[in-house]
Amino acid sequence: MNSNKRVFSGIQPTGEVHLGNYVGAIRNWVDLQSQYESTFCIVDYHAITNEYQPKKLLQRSLEVAATGIAAGLDPERVTLFIQSSVPEHTELTWFLTSLTSVGALERMTQYKDKCARGQGALAGLMSYPILQTADIILYKANLVPVGEDQVQHLELAREIVRRFNNLFGDYFPEPEPLLTSGARVMSLSDPTSKMSKSVEGSYISLTEEPESIRRKIKRAVTDPGPQGGEPGPGVANLFTLLEAFAPEDVTQSFRQDYANQKLRYSDLKATLGECIVTTLDPIRTRRAELLSKPEELKEILAAGGDRAREQARDTIRDVRELMGFQMPVR
Ligand code: TYM
Repeated sequence: MNSNKRVFSGIQPTGEVHLGNYVGAIRNWVDLQSQYESTFCIVDYHAITNEYQPKKLLQRSLEVAATGIAAGLDPERVTLFIQSSVPEHTELTWFLTSLTSVGALERMTQYKDKCARGQGALAGLMSYPILQTADIILYKANLVPVGEDQVQHLELAREIVRRFNNLFGDYFPEPEPLLTSGARVMSLSDPTSKMSKSVEGSYISLTEEPESIRRKIKRAVTDPGPQGGEPGPGVANLFTLLEAFAPEDVTQSFRQDYANQKLRYSDLKATLGECIVTTLDPIRTRRAELLSKPEELKEILAAGGDRAREQARDTIRDVRELMGFQMPVR
């Protein structure tokens, strides 16, 4: 265990956890949990910046937590919790909001994309990266395992931290993103845009049945161009997935075939489909077991929340003092 550095990451309980989330983030969380003190959060405060159903919010969070545990997160080893059990996230967000320029928020690609798709206008959606910064630094995390789409938010987080440290004393570490080779899994239906839970048909969910996985991989868009050179986005994406799910020698042999211009996409897709099915099968089964005992799952998450809250309280106490709030909180 490398005790000098701390890891933090989060995932939204909106829609289904998909292969992009798994390859870009969760799989990496599982690898990191034995190396660093790690905290992983189901960010339900973030989820309300999208349209959502209040009655289903907790269930969605439980499902994401069950998926994470089924994929290998060990709640004895990591702190796994639901964001809303630690209200300090919102208090720190307000403090950081006073250090963040509107211009910086307006430059965020994810915000601009959502506005272009007709969302936007809500202040919560725009200030979301401030809440994300608070999530991370509340636990003084140094390393943040995420997919590529979150890198810009982390740059902003670093800016906010620098500002805080300049004004109030060197207190927070600057968090850095940790990316895997699968940091950007592309959509199966349009490989020029990322796999996303808000685009139906673009993703394979971690709970998907084997037949459906095979079908979606079979239908994945590939590029008609000649083989041998740099693969186009569709084929490159299949190789990214192959790297994540197939044994290395299998991936190598398909790469050779591609280089020698004799790769049959149908073979690659059949192998890839099977490898994904083999990996996801036990995850799906374990997830269903966990969800069949919701009270136990809630207890695990509540215990994680208690641990997280202890740390969060310490940080908030220091921050209040550094920022000049002297009245005691009783
Ligand atoms: P979210 O819930 O959209 O995604 C969770 C994680 O999955 C990664 N990811 C991908 N990786 C590779 N390819 C893809 N197609 C793909 N799609 C998603 C995301 O990069 C992310 O790592 N704002 C964050 C949640 C968050 C957070 C945080 C993350 C809130 N606070 C603090 C880190 C630290 C989000 O919406 O992720």
